[in-house]
Amino acid sequence: MATDTEATQGAAGVSGSDTLTITDNRTGQTYEVPIQDETIRATELRQIKVNPDDFGLMTYDPAYMATASCRSAVTFIDGDRGILEYRGYPIEQLAEKSTYLEVAYLLIHGKLPTQSELDEWTYQVTMHTFVHENIKEFMQGFRYDAHPMGMLLAATGAMSTFYPEASAVKDEEIRYAQVVRLIAKMPTLAAFSYRHNQGKPYVYPDNDLSYAGNFLSMIYKMTELKYQPDPRLEHALDVLFILHADHEQNCSTSAVRSVGSSQVDPYSAVAAGVAALYGPLHGGANEAVLRMLRRIGDVSNVPSFIEGVKSGNERLMGFGHRVYKNFDPRAKIIKKAVEEVFEVTGKNPLLNVATELEKIALEDEYFISRKLYPNVDFYSGLIYEALGMPVEMFPVLFAIGRTSGWIAQWLEMIDDSEQKIARPRQIYTGGRRLDYVPINGR
Ligand code: SDX
Repeated sequence: MATDTEATQGAAGVSGSDTLTITDNRTGQTYEVPIQDETIRATELRQIKVNPDDFGLMTYDPAYMATASCRSAVTFIDGDRGILEYRGYPIEQLAEKSTYLEVAYLLIHGKLPTQSELDEWTYQVTMHTFVHENIKEFMQGFRYDAHPMGMLLAATGAMSTFYPEASAVKDEEIRYAQVVRLIAKMPTLAAFSYRHNQGKPYVYPDNDLSYAGNFLSMIYKMTELKYQPDPRLEHALDVLFILHADHEQNCSTSAVRSVGSSQVDPYSAVAAGVAALYGPLHGGANEAVLRMLRRIGDVSNVPSFIEGVKSGNERLMGFGHRVYKNFDPRAKIIKKAVEEVFEVTGKNPLLNVATELEKIALEDEYFISRKLYPNVDFYSGLIYEALGMPVEMFPVLFAIGRTSGWIAQWLEMIDDSEQKIARPRQIYTGGRRLDYVPINGR
């Protein structure tokens, strides 16, 4: 079950002690294994052997369904109660009262900033929005129709070659400079990849604008001297960045932690996160949702699509979650933001298809029994589309927001004395001690 305050305090069992007594029926031996934070250390199982030279027992947990890989204080999720907190602050309050840069500070520094800290943080990020001109030339090498997430993946990794000092991951001052650069430059790289796809000249950052406003300017500015973002769209995008900022040990964050555990520079580790987020089961789901809604086309086609899902021929993209077995609190907030954006852009008829899908799915036993509810990706694509973004840009927008979470988790991993290079074990299922067969004998 997802961590829950009572559970992690470990209600004392029958014997009153926080231990697990394991009997190995192969040998009749028993073992006492300590329980801490609702977990046992897998390495405790190594003592359980039949023969003294055995390796000892391990756990086998494909996709890590029941394996904690780290201790973290960054994000708390209670999947059964639909609770999401960044450094202990409920996502609902942060979405309503904070800004993305303040939330990024909170995630990375572990506390809400004072005004002077926020001003300095904002100044540092603002003053680092430009990228080296060679990155622009590098990005122009992509095909005109290259997927922008593939471009962002490459450009993020390429940044490690522009800041070779970033490999000094234990040097706090050098490390912090890369943290600021990553937060500052991801929107620039994202916007450059969009403009490349559009065949339009790249727009340089406008440091007079807010974080979200500057991104909109780099996306949409044409011949006007100064782009003026619509404050309602600017606010909606800032809220979306907040909602996507972190989500504990999701697939892409685990990739950042695992790759970062080799002590590679943060650009390469974050590039691994971009790669994982690209997948349609993860950050690519928002793109898949829009394609799905367009394919359904009209509310009248929803029942037959739902039947397709139930017969296993379709997947209801934007529904389901590994942790949330109730509603995803972010989906509720995004649904509200959709209305705010549609006030400006006009209502997208696909919203009717989405709300009909949600209505039917929430009443249908197939989805209820599998605890499938709308996740963060179900409605976000409607906002991105309303902002005029092509579907290929949706995971890129997710990556901009998630960069602060990836960095916060990476910093926590680097400073965690319990962590070392990630290197899982395996259950070997292949052949053994085979003799080489010459090619004319095969
Ligand atoms: C994100 O981990 C995070 O925190 C991720 C994220 C973040 O902020 O980082 O929240 C962001 O990635 C959100 C998820 C976006 N992905 C999608 O919307 C893609 C559609 N959803 C799924 O593919 C699925 O629900 C996952 C990948 C999200 C979760 O998969 P699990 O936990 O491995 O669950 P599962 O695939 O084993 O599904 C359990 C059952 C299966 O049915 P049975 O085999 O038991 O009959 O539910 C079914 C699945 O077939 N199922 C779905 C479904 N999702 C699961 N059936 C139809 N439509 C779906 N969307």
